[in-house]
Amino acid sequence: MSQFLKGTAIELRGVEKTFGITSVIRNVDLKVAQGERHALIGPNGAGKSTLFNLISGYMKPSVGQILLRDETISGLPPYQINRRGLSRSFQVTNVFANMTVWENIRCAVLWATGQRYAFWKNIDNLPEVRERTAQILVDISLTARRDVPAGLLTYAEQRALEIGITIAGGADVILLDEPTAGMSHAETERAVALIRRLTEGRTLLIVEHDMSVVFGLADRISVLVYGQIIASGTPEEIRGNKKVKEAYLGEEAA
Ligand SMILES: Nc1ncnc2c1ncn2[C@@H]1O[C@H](COP(=O)(O)OP(=O)(O)O)[C@@H](O)[C@H]1O
Ligand SMILES: [Mg+2]
Repeated sequence: MSQFLKGTAIELRGVEKTFGITSVIRNVDLKVAQGERHALIGPNGAGKSTLFNLISGYMKPSVGQILLRDETISGLPPYQINRRGLSRSFQVTNVFANMTVWENIRCAVLWATGQRYAFWKNIDNLPEVRERTAQILVDISLTARRDVPAGLLTYAEQRALEIGITIAGGADVILLDEPTAGMSHAETERAVALIRRLTEGRTLLIVEHDMSVVFGLADRISVLVYGQIIASGTPEEIRGNKKVKEAYLGEEAA
């Protein structure tokens, strides 16, 4: 169990999202405490990625309010939410395939320092950028692969790189969308150890389909079914929740 800090990191109040006449997110209330690792689970198409899009500003809620550390962020563009310390990964790998590992991380670090790219500046001469980039490569165990184009990394390495990109800016609220999707059991274990280490002292909201990962990593779990949160609680509470078993976990929890 990670140490909860004072205050609320993310809060959703009565959030709804409709596409045309289709209601995808329905009246969602959610609170994630600072320093908490919170897993969002639910069947395919439940609206998990949509919820991430709403929190990170890629979509605007049709109704309701989203707050980051008690300040309203719904309506802000993604980059402004990012500047306030919230960073997300995407379900689909989001690295620049032709850029090296080093360049991918450096790009994310540069963005976070507010440095604007200028072709006449040699960005590798900026010591703070170089040091931070090197540290992240150590953190994600990709130092030995620094000059490899990201497109040539193994799948698991690409996902680690993506987590590195997500945390590069020093955000203290991290959203990860299915970070272990498509990984082998051994790769998943390594990825979870990485996520655990890199989110120490930060707030994590994670969408994850692997229940052993969810129940091992999360302090609290919310279950989204058809756009509604049907239960929120500790792993024990969720495991024992009848509604959750019926709607989603089924035999998996047994
Ligand atoms: N931009 C969009 N326009 C219309 N429907 C969408 C859009 N994005 C997602 N949806 C629909 O919203 C529902 C939830 O999708 P999603 O959030 O991706 O679910 P999950 O991540 O839980 O699998 C799905 O039925 C999907 O087709
Ligand atoms: Mg999804």
